[in-house]
Amino acid sequence: MSLLLKRKSIRQFKSKPVAEEAITAMLQSAMQAPSARNQQPWEFVVIKRRDILDQLSETKGGAKPLATAPLGILLLMREDVGAPSMRPQDMAAATQNLLLEAANLSLGAVWIGVYPREETMDKVRAIITVPKHLLPFAIVAIGHPDQSTNVETLRYDEKRIRVIE
Ligand SMILES: Cc1cc2nc3c(=O)[nH]c(=O)nc-3n(C[C@H](O)[C@H](O)[C@H](O)COP(=O)(O)O)c2cc1C
Repeated sequence: MSLLLKRKSIRQFKSKPVAEEAITAMLQSAMQAPSARNQQPWEFVVIKRRDILDQLSETKGGAKPLATAPLGILLLMREDVGAPSMRPQDMAAATQNLLLEAANLSLGAVWIGVYPREETMDKVRAIITVPKHLLPFAIVAIGHPDQSTNVETLRYDEKRIRVIE
């Protein structure tokens, strides 16, 4: 099965920690993402502390997966580089790369959206001190899956494709 089809959002995790080499591999993959003018507007916070993960899990309804995840990676978007309008796309590419590397390592992960919701960004800042020029973009909850990872029906839909030839 292609890695792309293997990736699914996982929201329940075992308490077993994620290996250091796996964390490094996911960060390497995230930083390998394409970005506008190669501006690489990302910074990362690796969170292993149970009390911090629990607090982050309360920042919004969709953040609950962090309550069982042994690892969270907070992606921060720099505001002081290159092409401002393209930064969110760059960050999304890095986040997707991180998720794909997690799947490649047979880890479970889910993207928890933060940016551009001011309320959620403020809540994250209240838990983790982040310099002003960095915006909390997303948190990826990561761990060994504690739920089935069955892949659903393909989403491929020919009706959404227009070919010009
Ligand atoms: C920008 C973005 C924000 C998301 N935010 C959340 C979230 O806050 N909580 C959550 O559980 N899943 C979140 N997801 C995951 C989506 O719900 C999930 O990708 C979608 O339902 C498709 O399922 P799949 O990832 O298993 O293919 C987010 C995904 C994206 C791309």
